[in-house]
Amino acid sequence: MGYSHIEVLPVSGALGAEIQGLNLARPLGDDTFEELHRALLDYLVVFFRGQDMTPRQQIALGKRFGELDIHPYVAGMPDCPEIIHVIREPEDTGFNFGGDWHSDVTFQERPALGSILYAEEVPAYGGDTLFANQYLAYETLSDGMKSLLEGLEALHSASRPYGLHNTRGDRHEYAVNTHSMKVRYSEDAERMVAHPVVRTHPETGRKALYVNSAFTHRFQDMTKAESEPLLKFLIQHAARMEFTCRFRWEVGSVAFWDNRCVQHYALNDYAGQRRAMRRVTIAGDRPC
Ligand code: SIN
Repeated sequence: MGYSHIEVLPVSGALGAEIQGLNLARPLGDDTFEELHRALLDYLVVFFRGQDMTPRQQIALGKRFGELDIHPYVAGMPDCPEIIHVIREPEDTGFNFGGDWHSDVTFQERPALGSILYAEEVPAYGGDTLFANQYLAYETLSDGMKSLLEGLEALHSASRPYGLHNTRGDRHEYAVNTHSMKVRYSEDAERMVAHPVVRTHPETGRKALYVNSAFTHRFQDMTKAESEPLLKFLIQHAARMEFTCRFRWEVGSVAFWDNRCVQHYALNDYAGQRRAMRRVTIAGDRPC
């Protein structure tokens, strides 16, 4: 089926398309919404240029796709708790928010459906975001590996970025380090949640690999040592170059990705420069 309300320009062979002909600050009509929704399902991540959205307009766009998720460990903007202000200051060092392959909030029982990231301020160079297609990651596994993963669950938690050990002086190397974002370190970040290693997308019916480097710790009913070799293989396989695309941000760019079949990675290669983004996250269902 083609598109008559928007123009859709694929950006790589694996995933991603730039959408033209839409002003995201305005409410979407039903036909346009249907095409944008379809483009998201077809291309997994969609990109826009030259947008000018207020925080409230970004919230309205997100709500068109579902209920919004409030991040449990990162404070939202003062007037808009649904929006995380993803800021890295020139003086920030160490790990950046989103700087590891992941799908958003898989440490929750109901992880995110999608996320919409809007660029307010970008570095002169660097700070790109990478995306990886997890349908391809699953489909390119051997039949033997696919049957081994059938029915297997993995445990996810938020302990690496938000666990209490980060306040005790034994900071994890993946603790988010930022002067401008308010992070709540907490014991409940240690809580493990089980998700299938291969999930079925509730709208497309396609299977996607669902483990990630930021939040997945081990397989259910196995030790960390037993889990490690296979988990390491899957995590590396999930981000093979040929499954990815890379987005160069400009002020007013927007990326909207489907967390049910995409992982992403915020590159930390712009030391000494400021980058400020706003993210809304759409709540998803329980993976199965
Ligand atoms: C994230 O949502 O993980 C952050 C992505 C980015 O800042 O590029």
